[in-house]
Amino acid sequence: QLGGYPDFMQKEMHEQPEAMRSALRGRLDERFSTAHLGGLGLDPRQLRSIQRVKFLGCGSAYYAGQVGANLVEEFARIPADAEPASEFRYRNPVVDPNTLYVAISQSGETIDTLATVQELKRKGGQVIGAVNVVGSAIARECGSGIFLHAGPEVSVASTKAVTNMTVSFAMLALLLGRVRDLSVAHGKRIVEGLASLPDHLTSILDAQQDVADAARKYTDAQRMFFIGRVRGWPIAREGAQKLKEISYVHAEAYQASELKHGPLALIDPTMPSVVLVPDDELLSKNIGTMEQIKARGGPVIAVTNAEIPDGLADTVIRVPHSEPELDPILFTIPLQLFGYHLAAALGRDIDKPRNLAKSVTVE
Ligand code: BG6
Repeated sequence: QLGGYPDFMQKEMHEQPEAMRSALRGRLDERFSTAHLGGLGLDPRQLRSIQRVKFLGCGSAYYAGQVGANLVEEFARIPADAEPASEFRYRNPVVDPNTLYVAISQSGETIDTLATVQELKRKGGQVIGAVNVVGSAIARECGSGIFLHAGPEVSVASTKAVTNMTVSFAMLALLLGRVRDLSVAHGKRIVEGLASLPDHLTSILDAQQDVADAARKYTDAQRMFFIGRVRGWPIAREGAQKLKEISYVHAEAYQASELKHGPLALIDPTMPSVVLVPDDELLSKNIGTMEQIKARGGPVIAVTNAEIPDGLADTVIRVPHSEPELDPILFTIPLQLFGYHLAAALGRDIDKPRNLAKSVTVE
């Protein structure tokens, strides 16, 4: 069953290139530089009438939704956000008829996400699913949406399903953008970028040993920061989530921009910070963030596809270059590996973290 891998998490991380190919198959349109998502059941006129997109899910699915919201705003220029389904269902939400609600779930059985879909439908909201398990309760309740095609996922810590959530939302954002003002040239760049992602995943996984060596340097840490900015912020949150759920090391994600408003007080030589440094228009800001941490004696682990000044990071984890808008999809993978190898070095039971279940189907 494990096919030679030590655990399901390692197996499922390695399945990511193939899983992503399944998610992309038949959905990229090179001729018109857009995406085909037939499961949505929405024609161009209906896609145009969407004025807002709201992503709803729990745990890693929620963080993937934040990536999706950023992509929708970037490509389609309509307001988008993400909220934990577990919060949404209990706060008597305002349901807007011109909003597209996206219910995200690997299992399709998470009770909070299912209850959210039911509440949305009761109030006349337009809700689609982004679900991995065909025939699951959420998939049936939604009736339309995007299947994730990640294949069965056993490890409690979700990997390939999360990756396919983010790539699916990139296609949704592309589609919403191309029925609006996203140009053919921009769409072409994104279509080509998406098509090349699976090979980049393979190269990240091939370099796994480097991430393992990096992670093993930090087995004494009791706590860690994961720092990201804008595109990198949901990835920092997902990276912190992975580390805490499988290694039990306290990990907190913070926006780089907010560090100086409080968390810098915690920086000292015992508090390593994993900093996401994509090679985009905010590179100089992120270099400044690393400088702020270094100046206070904090160890810096840079996850980057940029050239960064020597001596700024104690440890560098390299990520391949892609289209900058798609960086979040790739930057997720080294953080999975980082959490995995730190947990493995600490001797944790990776596939069965204490107190957690793969899907939470009861209140
Ligand atoms: C949590 C799992 O309980 O549920 C997470 O531990 C997962 O890994 C979350 O992201 C949501 O699950 P699902 O199946 O709705 O995506």
